[in-house]
Amino acid sequence: MVVTVRREHPRDAETIAQVVQRAYADVPYSDHREHIMVDLMRASDAYIPELSLLAEVNGEAVGHVLLTKAHIGFGYSAFPTLALAPLSVVPAFQRQGISKLLISYAHDQSAALGFATILLVCIPNYYQQFGYERLSRCPIKLPFDAPDANCMILPLKPGALDGVSGIVCYAEGWLEH
Ligand SMILES: CC(C)(COP(=O)(O)OP(=O)(O)OC[C@H]1O[C@@H](n2cnc3c(N)ncnc32)[C@H](O)[C@@H]1OP(=O)(O)O)[C@@H](O)C(=O)NCCC(=O)NCCS
Repeated sequence: MVVTVRREHPRDAETIAQVVQRAYADVPYSDHREHIMVDLMRASDAYIPELSLLAEVNGEAVGHVLLTKAHIGFGYSAFPTLALAPLSVVPAFQRQGISKLLISYAHDQSAALGFATILLVCIPNYYQQFGYERLSRCPIKLPFDAPDANCMILPLKPGALDGVSGIVCYAEGWLEH
């Protein structure tokens, strides 16, 4: 199976909404609003076109990941970060390495764009394999309650988290994922 990953085009919006809805359809903790979040983020200042990535197999859209801008702390000392959510692979293509590919591509693109960290709130025991660490190890707090095991951060380069502290500030429209 050949999987390709590319940034989204404007014409992909509806396709991406469907991929996201199909991926989360049977997820028990989902509010089934993830696709709405993608649309809201696309229309916001937090959107980065290079970081809305679509995975395709034979031209069929099978996966998607979105990373958007957020900040840690406020004012002049605010530290720019990325927030990863949602991550979606349609059920028929799960467990075939597609999320791995999307995440690896997303990390490379994020580093190339100069970002130093990626934050996420996720399913437990999944993102450690990609180098994410528990957020509770850092003096960084989310603006909502979430289980410790679900809150993770990835330094994209050594020392990226040194001296970073504060409350995470998400873009308007960002939901908890
Ligand atoms: C979670 C999800 C993105 C994984 O996508 P995927 O393409 O099936 O994952 P991959 O095949 O790339 O798996 C990568 C690794 O993660 C593991 N993995 C896959 N799904 C997992 C899960 N739900 N929990 C823990 N580990 C998981 C795989 O076993 C694999 O490990 P291995 O390389 O040691 O075999 C996909 O199942 C999905 O879209 N789920 C519904 C939406 C969702 O929950 N998104 C994530 C929110 S944080």
